[in-house]
Amino acid sequence: MSQFNSTVGEIALLGATQGVGKQCLLLLLSNRMKVRVLARNPSMLSYLKKDFGELMTIVKGDATRLEDVEELISSSVTHVISSLGSKTIGKTTLVETGVSNTVKAMLKQDKPMRIAIITSAGILDVKQSWFFDNILKKYIIHNVYQDLANSERALCQLTKDSKITYAIVRPPQLVDSPITLDFEFGEDNNYPKGTSKVTRQDVASFLLRSLFDEKLQGNRSFNLNSKREIPTKLDIDEMLKETLSPTLFIIWKVLKTIVKIGLTGLVLYSLKTLFNK
Ligand SMILES: NC(=O)c1ccc[n+]([C@@H]2O[C@H](COP(=O)([O-])OP(=O)(O)OC[C@H]3O[C@@H](n4cnc5c(N)ncnc54)[C@H](OP(=O)(O)O)[C@@H]3O)[C@@H](O)[C@H]2O)c1
Repeated sequence: MSQFNSTVGEIALLGATQGVGKQCLLLLLSNRMKVRVLARNPSMLSYLKKDFGELMTIVKGDATRLEDVEELISSSVTHVISSLGSKTIGKTTLVETGVSNTVKAMLKQDKPMRIAIITSAGILDVKQSWFFDNILKKYIIHNVYQDLANSERALCQLTKDSKITYAIVRPPQLVDSPITLDFEFGEDNNYPKGTSKVTRQDVASFLLRSLFDEKLQGNRSFNLNSKREIPTKLDIDEMLKETLSPTLFIIWKVLKTIVKIGLTGLVLYSLKTLFNK
């Protein structure tokens, strides 16, 4: 991170407790950068306090509350990363509201600042697989995409004619695997060919790069795609736990157990009748 210079003050981070945002936080702290973090539940970051307490200020708050975000964006902040995301597939305005509040708080500082936000390559008008284009995008995660697209629109509108510049980073499917730095980026509507996957650590590294790399300055939108096949483990339980309400998730677990018991019973009954013949 040799490009960091004296014009870099504190980095404000939204969404640092999980996912890509957490990877950004770890990268920043391991490079001894000063960070201000907005967290609804600060105890999720308490494991970092012992070694990095002097570098990290945690503001307890919610991105949908403007006053909380204003406390995060103090006068010492020069760069901001928003990696907000909601776990729901229902209608949501979380990311749009969070990004709007962040830009409003930055405008209040009335000085040159840079922000990088994460949205998704899924909002591009680019053909991917049949299942993705016709099922997932249309019927399952359309609300999430709507919120992300609205957040981009809000970012562009609110920063117009201001001292703030932005980078929009649009990854394809996110995977929890180690950093590779083996991915490409296209700009605006150009989506590079690849495996339609990228690791969260790679996205975090690019969010930081989009803030500080001299060649990536100005108002830009970057579409990422990895060149290498990254193995993914599809954990249905984990996926449903994140998207269903607690009651629906319990119903799913009960149904799954009933089906398992039923199938085991069926197998045992078949074996018994086989041996009794
Ligand atoms: N999953 C994919 O394959 C994929 C692909 C492309 C793009 N994306 C987008 O990439 C972004 C990051 O995804 P991710 O899976 O890495 O992140 P994630 O695990 O969903 O984490 C989201 C972060 O946002 C925080 N957050 C949520 N609501 C908040 C609120 N009201 N106030 C403050 N913080 C709040 C969460 O904090 P808490 O710990 O308090 O919940 C968490 O730290 C999302 O916008 C997602 O839609 C995802």
